Order: sequence, then structure tokens, then C-alpha cells
Amino acid sequence: MKPAEFATLKIDDKEIELPVITGTEGEKGLDIGMLRKQTGYVTIDPGFMNTAACYSKITFVDGERGILRYRGIPVEELVDKHLFIEVAYLLVHGSLPNEEEKVEFSKLLNRNSLVHEDMRHFFDHFPRGAHPMHILSTMINALAAFYPNVDLLSMKEDIELSTARLISMVRTMAAMAYKKSIGEPVVYPRQDLSYCANFLNMMFDSPVVPYKIAPEAVRILNILLILHADHEQNCSTTTVRTIGSAQVNLYATISAGMSALSGPLHGGANQEVVEMLGYIERTGNVEKFMQKVKDKNNPARLMGFGHRVYKTFDPRAVIIKKECHDFLRKMKIKDPLLDVAMQLEKIALSDDYFISRHLYPNVDFYSGIVYRALGIPENMFTVMFALARLPGWIAHWKEMIGMNTKIVRPRQIYVGKRCKTKL
Ligand code: ACO
Repeated sequence: MKPAEFATLKIDDKEIELPVITGTEGEKGLDIGMLRKQTGYVTIDPGFMNTAACYSKITFVDGERGILRYRGIPVEELVDKHLFIEVAYLLVHGSLPNEEEKVEFSKLLNRNSLVHEDMRHFFDHFPRGAHPMHILSTMINALAAFYPNVDLLSMKEDIELSTARLISMVRTMAAMAYKKSIGEPVVYPRQDLSYCANFLNMMFDSPVVPYKIAPEAVRILNILLILHADHEQNCSTTTVRTIGSAQVNLYATISAGMSALSGPLHGGANQEVVEMLGYIERTGNVEKFMQKVKDKNNPARLMGFGHRVYKTFDPRAVIIKKECHDFLRKMKIKDPLLDVAMQLEKIALSDDYFISRHLYPNVDFYSGIVYRALGIPENMFTVMFALARLPGWIAHWKEMIGMNTKIVRPRQIYVGKRCKTKL
């Protein structure tokens, strides 16, 4: 991007000009690409608290104003009017599909929904209690062995196919992993069902108790998947862009993103939230728990609260909270964890500790309660997040490859032992 202005940096009696880059929404950044060459200095920013690692046209987040848009469209509008697969198409291709493109994409998803029969045997050899995230990231990595055209050129040319394979097949794998974990026969995908209805059916249908697909369940699952579909340079997406920059194949890259997502400070938080709410519900001591999460000497945190970017309400949490209430009411489900969540939120939002640090509920605070109401077990919550995030990861991989990005290789400041050997 061409800079329209420059900032002056004075360093060691030298003045250098740093290009100021302005994004389409007015965000400003200093381009320090030439800093080391010109001055010998590098910048230090552990955790990338203040570093824009790339240019991107995919998602816009304004953490101060609580805004989230995919390809310029507010997420509120997308959940209102669109299906998850349309949003997936939007993220990967840059615009919503027209009718013809939608039909073609659906056909491709349908054709790629079956898991290779030889891969099915892998599921038999994981220990029964294995976490589905571990199973799934392993299986995704294995895709490169089953569909070996994974050199960069083939993957770039076959992006449609790889996208469909990942979005559709990984959904089948996720349901399969669950069925295996409970010792039930696997349910195959059906071409007459939508993406979300198909997933619910593969999860819950059984030869002895047929599953009745409730339209309300399909609707809320669609919303949850859209809300989690992308969130610009979060930890797992940064992992995808970092690993992808070494021109690793897309499957291995996505598998790495998935592993990053599994961490409790990232996607794993939704499972932790429900465990936390359950613990508070059992022990009944909200005040004591709140003291614990505010105690500097205690590593406990109020899970589902706080965000690196949002310093106000996470717009996704606002939507999920409302939808969660509506869904539980419509399905006549009474979940005591929802009462605990509301109580915690009320206390936190009026507590100076949380107010002064701008800690608000994030996307994970209410999502677990919805997943519980859908009948999805806790150890599958992060898998749900991963299914939703697949289009985002693929879109970032595609964008990064398309820009011929240099291999990601940050610098460091060495603070270890000095060499005692005289040279
Ligand atoms: N509970 C209690 N205190 C918190 C919380 C929390 N959930 N989150 C942040 N804080 C405190 C920190 O202790 C710190 O306090 P200090 O200034 O006195 O040291 C301050 O708020 C800033 O927190 P950081 O950890 O520096 O913020 P950071 O941006 O690095 O972390 C994160 C963001 C990881 C999301 C953090 O808020 C957290 O751990 N939240 C709980 C886990 C969670 O819900 N993760 C899901 C995030 S959304 C997602 O990934 C989809």
C-alpha cells in the first residue's frame, strides 16, 4: 500500500521517516519494515499486542465500538439473512454466492461429505476417552496422505475442492468422532439435508431412536457457526498464516490452526465456561468464586470474559445471549447454568475490577449453554468452534498465499548468557 503520510522517528541522533499506512476504516499503522536496515533497531512486541502482522480484506473488527464485519457486511445482517455455507463462500471468495454459485457450492459440499472409507478405521484406534479435538486435528493432518495433491500450485488451483473437502468432510468426521466415543454406529451424511441439519442428524440419529430435526435447532446452530466463522488475526488464524507461510500443505496448516484453537485461552474457553458454571452451581458460592478470579495470586479467571481486542461488549456475545434465551424458551428447556451465567455477568459488569480492565462477556460466555441445549456434549464444544472457523482459516490461507507473503520469521532480543570464548 502507498503511504500518504510519514511519521518521523528520532533515534541515535538520526531522523528517519516511517510510512504511515491507513486502512479502509481509518486504522493507522507505522510500517517499520526498513527500521533495522536504517537504524539497527528492531521493535519488541511479545504477544503481538500492538502489531499488525498483515494486510487483510477479510474481516473488520473494531474492539472499542464492538463492531464485527465479514467482507464489509455486519455480522448482525449475516446471521439474520444468510446460511453458514453462504457466509463460508463469502469469506473464502470475497462476495456472497448468487443462486447458481450457491447450488454449485452445495453440490460440491455434498460430493465431498463422505470420509474416505480407509480413514474410518483410524477412529477405531484412538482411546475411547480421547478428546475429539485431538482426534480431529490428527484426522485433518492425515487428509494430505489420502488426497496427496498438496503442493502449493495444486492447492491454489484446487482451492474450491479443498475448501469443500474441509468444510464438509470435517463436519462428518466430527460427528463420527462423537458416535465412536459413545459406541454407536456412524450415521452417514444425507444429500437432502442442509449443512446444519445434516450435522445434527449425524450426531443424534440412531437406528433405534430416530432423531427429529427441530427447525429451531438448525436455526441457532446456523447462527453460532456464522458468528464463529472468522475473527481476523486471532491465535489460531495467526497460526494458520504463520505455518502456511512456509508453504506447508493446507491440511497440515488447518490441523495446526485447530491445535491452537484447542487452548483454554482461545477456543477451549467454551468448554471451560460450562465447567466453571457447573462448579459454581454445585458449590453455590458466586462471591467466593469472584474473589478467586480477581486474586493476583490465583491463576483462575472468569472464563468467557475478556478479549484481546474487544474493550466493550463482544457483538457476538450480544447476539448469542439473546438467541440463547429465545431458544431455551422455545424448546422449553430450563438450564440452571443460564441463571448462574446471568448472575455472574451482572456481578462482573458492576465490579470495578472488571470495569476498569474493560472485561466483558466474550463469544464463549453463552455459546456453551446453547450447545448443551442442543444436546452437544462438553468435549465437543471446541470442535463446534473449529467447524465454524474452517472458512475463516481457509480464507486467510488463500489470501496469504495470493499475496506471496514472505515466510513468517520474527526477530528476538537475546537475553541469555554471554559467550565467554575469546574470538
Ligand atoms: N478474569 C479475570 N481477570 C481477567 C480476565 C478474566 N477472564 N481476563 C483478563 N483479566 C485481567 C488480567 O488478569 C489482567 O489484569 P492486570 O492488568 O491486573 O494484570 C487484565 O485483565 C488484562 O488481561 P490480559 O491477560 O493481559 O489480556 P489479554 O488480552 O492478554 O487476554 C484473554 C485476553 C486471553 C481472552 C483473557 O481475557 C482471558 O484469559 N479470558 C478468559 C478466557 C477466555 O474467555 N478466552 C476466550 C477468548 S475469545 C476467543 O478466543 C474466541
